[in-house]
Amino acid sequence: MDILKDFQAPFFAMSRLPSFPWTFLGKDLESNKSSELISDILKQTCLHSLCRKFPPSVRYRKLFLCQLIKREAAGCDPLDELYDALAEVVGAEDTSECYKSYLLPGGDSVSLRENVAMISDGTTGLVTWEAALYLTEWALEHQQAFSGRTVLELGSGVGLTGITICRSCSPKRYVFSDCHPRVLQTLQDNVQLNSVTQRAPPHVTVQELDWSTATEEQIALIGADTVIAADVVYDPEVAESLVNLLKTILSSSNPDIYICSTVRNLETYSGFKTQLEEAGISHRVMTGAVSHVFPYSRGSAIEMIQLYR
Ligand SMILES: C[S@@+](CC[C@H](N)C(=O)[O-])C[C@H]1O[C@@H](n2cnc3c(N)ncnc32)[C@H](O)[C@@H]1O
Repeated sequence: MDILKDFQAPFFAMSRLPSFPWTFLGKDLESNKSSELISDILKQTCLHSLCRKFPPSVRYRKLFLCQLIKREAAGCDPLDELYDALAEVVGAEDTSECYKSYLLPGGDSVSLRENVAMISDGTTGLVTWEAALYLTEWALEHQQAFSGRTVLELGSGVGLTGITICRSCSPKRYVFSDCHPRVLQTLQDNVQLNSVTQRAPPHVTVQELDWSTATEEQIALIGADTVIAADVVYDPEVAESLVNLLKTILSSSNPDIYICSTVRNLETYSGFKTQLEEAGISHRVMTGAVSHVFPYSRGSAIEMIQLYR
């Protein structure tokens, strides 16, 4: 069962193919000389109903099936369904958008329309970043930070964190926000795709909120109890407007604020922290491991901080 999950979760999240447990599969084929495990993996991935409804990209499925065929060819009899599945994707047209599905602990899943490229349309907001995966894992373990509260998310991107919080953490109200028109449209579509707005509560809205132009009135109207953001500290040019906005938010409703970042460039990240201090905003680094829910590389330096006055 575990080995099937070890293939299924990364397949639907479109994780890097070398990260799959191919060695385990090779050893199973070597000892059993049976295609049973490959057949089961196929049923849990390309032939699964979730794949029919929310398919990962054509190119990704093609490469995944080629990897399975490589193992099968070396270790057992040919499996017809494997070649049928490949024939289906070989004839399909590749597109710049795909679906990624993130499997949640209770068996539920969040499916998102995302771009296949990390940066497209001049924005980083059309894919889910690792800091969002981490922040979502943290939220699942700290539901009290969201339960019964008004939550504002800054730079929501395609929406994984917020949709999961709406599903699992019972917020009273959830405000997704971003500034880029295509990101906002995709975000709105993903919120609808996951039926978040049809459940009551929470009351859910997707708002345009640009850090450089957001007004005190806009922030006061939201009246957030909790503010979160994932992977928003990467561009020194926008750090100042983000810090100014955080200052406005703190003096408005004094919410709990959590910022989760992948530290790619130490200078940029330290610069952000210095700007926080200069604005009179203190921070503490959140320590303590979170349970691994999503398949992604744990090698990146991810840091979560809580801000306070
Ligand atoms: C690296 S992405 C992170 C998206 C998402 N939080 C995640 O981690 O998957 C950064 C996000 O911040 C948004 N963003 C950048 N500058 C912004 C600004 N000035 N105002 C509001 N959002 C902004 C981008 O549109 C994008 O969605």
